[in-house]
Amino acid sequence: MSRTVYVNGEFLPEEKATVSIFDRGFLMADGVYEVTSVLGGKLIDFEGHAARLARSLAELDMAQPISHEDLLAVHRELVARNAIDNGLVYLQVTRGNPGDRDFVFPDPDETPGTVVLFTQSKPDLRDNPVAAAGIKVISIPDQRWARRDIKTVQLLYPSMGKMAAKAAGAGDAWFVEDGKVTEGTSNNAYIVKNGRIVTRELSNDILHGITRAAVLRYAAEAQMEVEERAFTIAEAQAADEAFVTSATTFVTPVIEIDGVKLGAGTPGPVATRLREIYIDESLKSAL
Ligand code: PDD
Repeated sequence: MSRTVYVNGEFLPEEKATVSIFDRGFLMADGVYEVTSVLGGKLIDFEGHAARLARSLAELDMAQPISHEDLLAVHRELVARNAIDNGLVYLQVTRGNPGDRDFVFPDPDETPGTVVLFTQSKPDLRDNPVAAAGIKVISIPDQRWARRDIKTVQLLYPSMGKMAAKAAGAGDAWFVEDGKVTEGTSNNAYIVKNGRIVTRELSNDILHGITRAAVLRYAAEAQMEVEERAFTIAEAQAADEAFVTSATTFVTPVIEIDGVKLGAGTPGPVATRLREIYIDESLKSAL
């Protein structure tokens, strides 16, 4: 069945929706994106994603092409029109179509940004068998650009990381830079030792995960100890448990790193509990 998608102010059937070949998102990866999950037909952490979108746009000197109010309305409309129960809304904003290829940014008054949104249905999002089993990760060098705090659509290297993980029989790859883990290909990375949760501190080296912010808040509220600092693969392999967070995986346990099982090699109690808390708490403020 054809989905309804949104392109620059219009709701269209997906096969009628088009973007110019001169769009800078296509030619230069000059665009930013957000992924907001949907549970029970409601948007999880919408406000966090909207705030990060505004920050990504500002960091790249891009104009905000759609108001906050309209953004929420479009998200909701797409969820309703496509009858999404569990799934996600993908949003992309690019610097638009200046009519030619040029390295210089176009004048935003003459070239409006392109705004595209679509939904993806994921019936298993909540009761995900992958989360129940936990994932294996491999480590690879972090060869992305140095502004990973901006959520750009330059996802070639993360895709290569996912492919390397797949080839190794793993579920994901953790990037390592200067001997320390930065994050996963599309998630933030954590270890747990003696009940203490350790995750890299915020900087330009990692994406400031919206799920990360919520999980750390809930962990603190549940009197769990949290330390924000970088860790090595060796420290992670010696940890009691590990996990990753993102909008689409919530909290997902990691059971093996570079072939070394963590603890019993099954999802740990801290990750399992945090997944439950995250889903329960975020549903309370879902829009
Ligand atoms: N990825 N780090 C990276 C590199 C990411 O791509 C993501 C999200 C995260 C987690 O951020 P959040 O909790 O706000 O989703 C961390 C999305 C889900 C994606 O690319 O599909």
